[in-house]
Amino acid sequence: MADPLILAGSGSARTPASDPDDQNPDPVGERAPVDSPPVSGPNTSYDPVEVAALAPEAVESAVDAALSAIAQADSLEDLKAIRPAHQGDKSPLALANREIGALPPSAKADAGKRVGQARGRVGQAFAARQAELEAERDERVLREETLDLTQTSGRRPLGRRHPIELMSQRIADLFVGMGWEIAEGPEVEAEWFNFDALNFDADHPARQMQDTFYVDPRERGLILRTHTSPVQARAMLERGVPLYVAAIGRVFRTDELDATHMPAFHQVEGLAVDEGITMAHLKGTLDRLATELFGEGITTRLRPSFFPFTEPSAEMDLRCFVCRGEDAACRTCGGTGWIEWGGCGMVNRNVLTAVGVDPDRYTGFAFGMGIDRALMFRTGVSDMRDMIEGDVRFDAQFGMEI
Ligand code: PHE
Repeated sequence: MADPLILAGSGSARTPASDPDDQNPDPVGERAPVDSPPVSGPNTSYDPVEVAALAPEAVESAVDAALSAIAQADSLEDLKAIRPAHQGDKSPLALANREIGALPPSAKADAGKRVGQARGRVGQAFAARQAELEAERDERVLREETLDLTQTSGRRPLGRRHPIELMSQRIADLFVGMGWEIAEGPEVEAEWFNFDALNFDADHPARQMQDTFYVDPRERGLILRTHTSPVQARAMLERGVPLYVAAIGRVFRTDELDATHMPAFHQVEGLAVDEGITMAHLKGTLDRLATELFGEGITTRLRPSFFPFTEPSAEMDLRCFVCRGEDAACRTCGGTGWIEWGGCGMVNRNVLTAVGVDPDRYTGFAFGMGIDRALMFRTGVSDMRDMIEGDVRFDAQFGMEI
């Protein structure tokens, strides 16, 4: 088959363009002889030297270079990076392709076929390598991102509600169930509500610094409430009487933190004011609360006591859970057989008067019980500090239904 680059009628000599060793033919010095027989078409003076890019060897070597670069590309990025050099506008094969137009028609078909095939091979090699690398990548991604849906997770421990909170809610439920309302008051309280309205004398020892946290400056008359009883006065002023309210919340006293004392603890306050309220109602209500928290069969007793805001006043004690009064050496009750739970009494006339309630028409009872203490008795926790350390294991252990 004739070498298509040797133009018809151009003579017998091979042109430099067909010499694969001659990469830089000098187009000026190697013009085709002017007396060459004319070729068909307008390209009579065509000189194959100028289209060296079309030489089969050149095309072949461009293909080889492309194929080997493609074979060496071992990532999609590599492949992308080498593409312009072999398939881009300035790649040897693109140049060759452009040169085809300059060929005489008789040579065009052959050269076009060769260059077309060459470009096709390179294109296919790119596509094949691309597919191969994509498959590898997909396979790798699938492997690396494998999710084992059957695997059990290292479960994060769930948070728990604090046992004090649970007990508070349970107490609130009990009172709401009896038709009482839940009242609230501020923890930073006016001294007047905490003491004066409750009939504390100006020189009552509980006002002194050893019991009360005062807020600076002292003249502002603000303190951290030392009990939930100020809610009694607030509730009567806000809601009027008759009145049945329970207030649950945090109170503060300047106690050292030890196994049985905390500077912040919780109380449930109860206040019932109506016509004809007696101490029997108080006893019945507290017994109901004790049964709710400690179970059927709990024994309680009222013991005379004193509070400025109740008259008469009493302490309510619970029969010791541990020894039931039968062990003089019991550490829970100190051998007394009873555990102090909180104070109570009939609302003092002076308190009713201070908040504008007619003490001749209305009577009321009030109580304030320690929630933290109740939790201690109920769960056998011997160190109150465990309650405030925030260790979720404590909550998990005691924050269950009690
Ligand atoms: N507030 C009192 C205390 O903290 C308890 C109490 C409440 C007593 C209501 C009587 C009536 O000790």
